[in-house]
Amino acid sequence: MSIVNVLNKKTTDLNISGDKHKKHLQVIQKTYQNNIESDYTEKIEALGKNFDYSTNSNHFWGDRQLSTLYGSPLYEQASHAQKLALNHLYWVGQYQHTASAEANTMLYNQITSGVFAHVGGYETLCQELDFETTQERHHINTFHKIGYKTKIALLGKESFGNSLHKKLNHQTQNNLLQKFRELHNKESIQDFTFRFLTKLMHQGKENYYSEYLKQKSNSIPTATGGLAGVTASPSVFKYLSLNWGSSPFLAAQYYSARMVANMSLKTYEYHYYKHFRELEKKGEFIPTPIAVSYYHLLDESFHTTMSQTIAQEVYKDFPKPTTYEKLLSNVIILLLQRGLLSGLSAALPATFRDDVNFIPSYYRLLTSPLFNQMHQQDALHWMKKCLCEEHEGFYVNLKYHQSLLNDLRRFFDRLEYLWPVNRKMRLMAEGGSIEKAIKRNQIAFKQFVTSVTA
Ligand SMILES: [Fe+2]
Ligand SMILES: [Fe+2]
Repeated sequence: MSIVNVLNKKTTDLNISGDKHKKHLQVIQKTYQNNIESDYTEKIEALGKNFDYSTNSNHFWGDRQLSTLYGSPLYEQASHAQKLALNHLYWVGQYQHTASAEANTMLYNQITSGVFAHVGGYETLCQELDFETTQERHHINTFHKIGYKTKIALLGKESFGNSLHKKLNHQTQNNLLQKFRELHNKESIQDFTFRFLTKLMHQGKENYYSEYLKQKSNSIPTATGGLAGVTASPSVFKYLSLNWGSSPFLAAQYYSARMVANMSLKTYEYHYYKHFRELEKKGEFIPTPIAVSYYHLLDESFHTTMSQTIAQEVYKDFPKPTTYEKLLSNVIILLLQRGLLSGLSAALPATFRDDVNFIPSYYRLLTSPLFNQMHQQDALHWMKKCLCEEHEGFYVNLKYHQSLLNDLRRFFDRLEYLWPVNRKMRLMAEGGSIEKAIKRNQIAFKQFVTSVTA
């Protein structure tokens, strides 16, 4: 049965007929209308298609603060051309991460929409989520196009790595095949356990099981990369796929996780938006990536409103969470805090993860043609100065950290089912320490030196 048929059939499950005038249902209706009327995806696609790096290469793409290594000793002594490149590479890196996060969003929009479809009265909400999924597809395409052309121009084809299969001989291929079969068997047992556990925990809610998951009955869809990639393993996300697709409360709870993605993006995207407005006012040249960010923010503002409305209001329409649902919701937000928000990068502004994840990329950057293929010793010398010693870049990042922390606290404080550690974002708050970030970088850097000089 298609989702539309399900929507037509189900109308009374949760007796929401009397709730038609609820404020949040009006917000959803208005958001959907405004989103389809404004929709900037065509404009964004056209900008991506026509993007030419050389036309944009002599301009900063937004504030200088939004540059890789900004405020570090190496940035201070970088040439103008290097500063431009670091500013462009920062945009590319942030939007590569955004593209992966939006691929996660596409999956979970469909899984949760498949649950809401079973609850009468949420037709517009499902239509909006489906529309958002289509928009994300266009956004992702554009981010990839601009990112690819920019990286080729600045770092060369080598930055994408060599073709893997050229290196694989017959024996290696056989070994890989064997490993794949073993992994597949292991996954089947795991999938079976996950399905069993989820059913057990959501007894009596079988009618809500996501239409999308039903259609994908052969394998459990999961998320990799983006926010999911730094939060938990693909196996954990398989379990979450089943849970977010099994109960109306958890389907709505997913949107509190999506709100973290929306707000994290806004932390830097809003600066590109403001920069666009300033350039437009002065009648100056607007680099294509800034225009993409500007129109993307306008599309995303509707997605943010939806995340907020579902996470803070819609869940109250559904049966109260069970002890298990509360526990799982808290663990999810705790994992998000730990993976995505509990560090402070020394070299990537508005990034609240430890540099341990980025150290190999910094090394590749410093030994690339952009830095005249720095010798190993020099590269390690600069990395130590930029990652393991205090500098202005840390303070700039701390400012972004404080601003996001305040916004997230305001958002999560209203969710009464969360533990104080999540409502007050305590893990994130603890992560906002330059001293701790430097200590962790010193340990990670030491290990990295051993691995490259061994
Ligand atoms: Fe998007
Ligand atoms: Fe979005």
